[in-house]
Amino acid sequence: MRVVFLTGAGISAESGIPTFRGKSGLWNNYKPEDLATPTAFMRDPVLVWKWYDWRRGIVSKAKPNRAHILIAELEKEIDVIVITQNVDGLHQKAGSTRVLELHGNIWRVRCTACYDTYYNYEVPLREIPPRCVNCGGILRPDVVWFGEEIPANILEESFRISENCEVMVVVGTSGVVYPAAYLPFIAKRAGARLVEINPEDTPISSISDMKIREKASGGMEICVKYLRSLL
Ligand SMILES: NC(=O)c1ccc[n+]([C@@H]2O[C@H](COP(=O)([O-])OP(=O)(O)OC[C@H]3O[C@@H](n4cnc5c(N)ncnc54)[C@H](O)[C@@H]3O)[C@@H](O)[C@H]2O)c1
Ligand SMILES: [Zn+2]
Repeated sequence: MRVVFLTGAGISAESGIPTFRGKSGLWNNYKPEDLATPTAFMRDPVLVWKWYDWRRGIVSKAKPNRAHILIAELEKEIDVIVITQNVDGLHQKAGSTRVLELHGNIWRVRCTACYDTYYNYEVPLREIPPRCVNCGGILRPDVVWFGEEIPANILEESFRISENCEVMVVVGTSGVVYPAAYLPFIAKRAGARLVEINPEDTPISSISDMKIREKASGGMEICVKYLRSLL
């Protein structure tokens, strides 16, 4: 059985990482939508990097929760692929080996001058904005900001995987950030069963075959039993 997990910020909430849509996502009264953009970075790279430095500090202390771990363990039983909108790397930390990161990774940086990309795990950053080790140019986080495009190869692969799965489980995503929010619709149209785990209703709820109105960890326990019943 081919199962795709499409995950969003909600799966990491129980690991202590704030989601974007919720009061705890605010930092110094700035909305993420006003910081995670190329325009914000061009205007004030120091401000944007201070926000990332704060988020990297939180992520560095976070551990995968039961939901990440259950998904990783399922790989031993069934064909599992994770498509995540998260940049925190917690799926890989939990042991998942097939993870597509739609929006990049918070530990990767990209030089705005020479375009080289590499990992930087400094917490807190020694210098803000951080500078490229090769050319001294200003670095930016290698993540996909609002108004930017997901790298074409990753997007194409996630479309292909969504068209070819038998079950898609959507965990902790608000379903309003596109194109990621298309993927459940693509899977459904191709005949997959859709399961949603989210304490709240989303635009994906209306097409879901099973709605689990729980937090990610409790919801995943229910989901694992359901998936086993399909085997
Ligand atoms: N951990 C991270 O890496 C992280 C954190 C915040 C934002 N982001 C980025 O922000 C964008 C925001 O979109 P999004 O849809 O992923 O997140 P979102 O913040 O828009 O929505 C979070 C969703 O999770 C649900 N939720 C909250 N707590 C939950 C829990 N304990 N269990 C299950 N669901 C829960 C909410 O009801 C909501 O629908 C993403 O593209 C992502 O790149 C990433
Ligand atoms: Zn450089």
